[in-house]
Amino acid sequence: EIKGMTPPDIRSRKGQTPLVCLTAYTTPVARLLDRHCDIVLVGDSVGMVLHGLSSTLGVTLDMMIMHGQAVRRGLEHALMVVDLPFGSYEESPEHAFGNAARVMGETGCSAVKIEGGETISETIRFLTARGVPVMAHVGLTPQAVNTFGGYRVQGRGADAERIRRDARAVTEAGAFSLVLEKIPEQLARQITADIDIPTIGIGASPACDGQILVSHDMLGLFTSFRPKFVKRYAELGEQAEAAIAAYATDVRNRHFPAVEHLYVNAFKAGDFT
Ligand code: KIV
Ligand code: NA
Repeated sequence: EIKGMTPPDIRSRKGQTPLVCLTAYTTPVARLLDRHCDIVLVGDSVGMVLHGLSSTLGVTLDMMIMHGQAVRRGLEHALMVVDLPFGSYEESPEHAFGNAARVMGETGCSAVKIEGGETISETIRFLTARGVPVMAHVGLTPQAVNTFGGYRVQGRGADAERIRRDARAVTEAGAFSLVLEKIPEQLARQITADIDIPTIGIGASPACDGQILVSHDMLGLFTSFRPKFVKRYAELGEQAEAAIAAYATDVRNRHFPAVEHLYVNAFKAGDFT
């Protein structure tokens, strides 16, 4: 018996209430998200957000598996999807299957996400036919940052047709949902109307069937750069820095530890914590 959300559950939400999706890389954050999200993505954004890499290109399969295992322990309800990192799926459908099977087997995730459209659709078909549900990702695909020459909006003007073809190709190949990243609203609306799987937008307008953000971005915990599409729901980075500064001051002034943090009378009080 599978408990929690499944890829078919997500697929059947096409045109229904919007899908709520966020990223997680650790158990505690996964626990915070689980009751509120339909999908929790272990994104390869982990490389930039937690490991200080300057792009997602240096993220390895082992990193994704380690973070995936941590996230698995924090989820009961949300569907868990893990990004296949750069270099782990492009070479051939067989190579992609071997790595996807490792990720699913070692993390217990229910699906993988891979970037790309027409060129990767044969691989999506291969994986889907062999028990690996695939979330697709078109528009701005950050693993192709060097090909694009940056993180610019995709699908403007005549380039829109390329993204539309990509969206159709991954849908026909059997993807159960599709992330649309950083494309104009009109294009996101057309694609969402055009395909019968849910579109999940990030910088792709409310016309999509769902939304995803990087949790650390919307919490104000990752501030190295801030795309226009990020809404900050909290400023946890600022709060954390204020707390750290207060601790530093307390230590230097010998205001911490204070009386209540001492073990002087611990045995008498029966307090061993
Ligand atoms: O890696 C990631 O976090 C992602 C989402 C933002 C879609 O791919
Ligand atoms: Na990603």
